Amino acid sequence: MNKTPSHLILSRRDLLKLLAVVGVTATGGYVLYEDAPWLGYDQQANYNHRPFEKDSTLSAQMRELIRFAALAANAHNTQPWKFAIQENAIEIHPDYARRLPSVDPNDRELWISLGCALENLLTAARAAGYTTEVTYPDAADFIRVHLIADTAQPSPLFDAIPLRQNTRSEYNRQPVKSNNLDQLQTLPLEPNAVLRLATNRDDLETVLEYVNQGNLSQYADKAFLDELIYWLRFNKKEALASLDGLYTRCSGNPEGPRWLGQILVASTKPQQQADVDAKKLRSSSGAIVIAAESDNKTAWVRTGQVYERMALTMTSLDIKLAFLNQPIEVAGVREQLQSAVGLGNALPQLLVRFGYADAMPRSLRRPVEQVLF
Ligand SMILES: Cc1cc2nc3c(=O)[nH]c(=O)nc-3n(C[C@H](O)[C@H](O)[C@H](O)COP(=O)(O)O)c2cc1C
Repeated sequence: MNKTPSHLILSRRDLLKLLAVVGVTATGGYVLYEDAPWLGYDQQANYNHRPFEKDSTLSAQMRELIRFAALAANAHNTQPWKFAIQENAIEIHPDYARRLPSVDPNDRELWISLGCALENLLTAARAAGYTTEVTYPDAADFIRVHLIADTAQPSPLFDAIPLRQNTRSEYNRQPVKSNNLDQLQTLPLEPNAVLRLATNRDDLETVLEYVNQGNLSQYADKAFLDELIYWLRFNKKEALASLDGLYTRCSGNPEGPRWLGQILVASTKPQQQADVDAKKLRSSSGAIVIAAESDNKTAWVRTGQVYERMALTMTSLDIKLAFLNQPIEVAGVREQLQSAVGLGNALPQLLVRFGYADAMPRSLRRPVEQVLF
């Protein structure tokens, strides 16, 4: 006799939840998944990364553009942004309540994160049929994107937005195809941005020296570790409750209760962490330093744009990438890296490794409602 598998039998509680879901669908529509904390992690991640939904009304399109903007890379997955919808414009504001005072005391990475979101927004806006004019945060403390209706320009970079991820696993060491490397080397840059690409093993070992130094300094720093632990999500329940932060499985680590995760992270020996990252860098096909000739808000936003453009380009070529920013986050080591890779006056802003690997679980995002003013 066929028996229904036990996981398919709905409990009374599940049934009530299901009825609640149906009720919300009937009245409200798409907010339902985002507000449904009992959903599984993968369902939530799929929902966050669902394809762009075209709509004929400008206000609905603006919300979709904001959802795509918020899929961008951002430091510790703090999602340090707030968006304002204006007539024919979207503003991206910093959310200083989500800053990282220990690892990012000058809000440099916060503004880079806003630049990543800006690049996604511009790429999605072009594909949805708008040309754009950007006002950078020189005087004001926010970015403004003016939208002008035009013909739609879909692109492989637009398709890559929901697929891009920071892939923290070991890679397979295979060199990146030379035509793809050429494409990266000729990536259109923003004013004052500089790119340095290292693919030979000697150059990677040079970069590794500074990654090691960064790790040894950060993992001996209690304030750095406390901040990291605050943003770590040690299990699905924590990740789904906050829809932000660093979920352990996205870094290839197992789940567990917070009390245990906290002890393990706080007792990581600096050399242990350096060894793990050395293996990861050596498994990669190359590394890239993104630098800028100035060190102010606009330069940081433009750095974020260059990074996200590069990440979307790599994603479209099935190349994976991950940050190793430790040497840039530690004062003193940043300047050593700057001269070791021959950057002249340009200051390193981001360090990225790249290569081939399988995808990892995706990180979550807060719903548009939570990131609007
Ligand atoms: C400015 C900036 C700095 C980052 N630094 C690191 C880092 O040092 N190490 C790391 O593993 N990820 C780093 N990340 C990646 C974020 O943790 C990642 O983008 C975020 O968790 C969201 O995940 P996703 O990119 O896979 O969507 C950084 C991202 C940005 C924008």
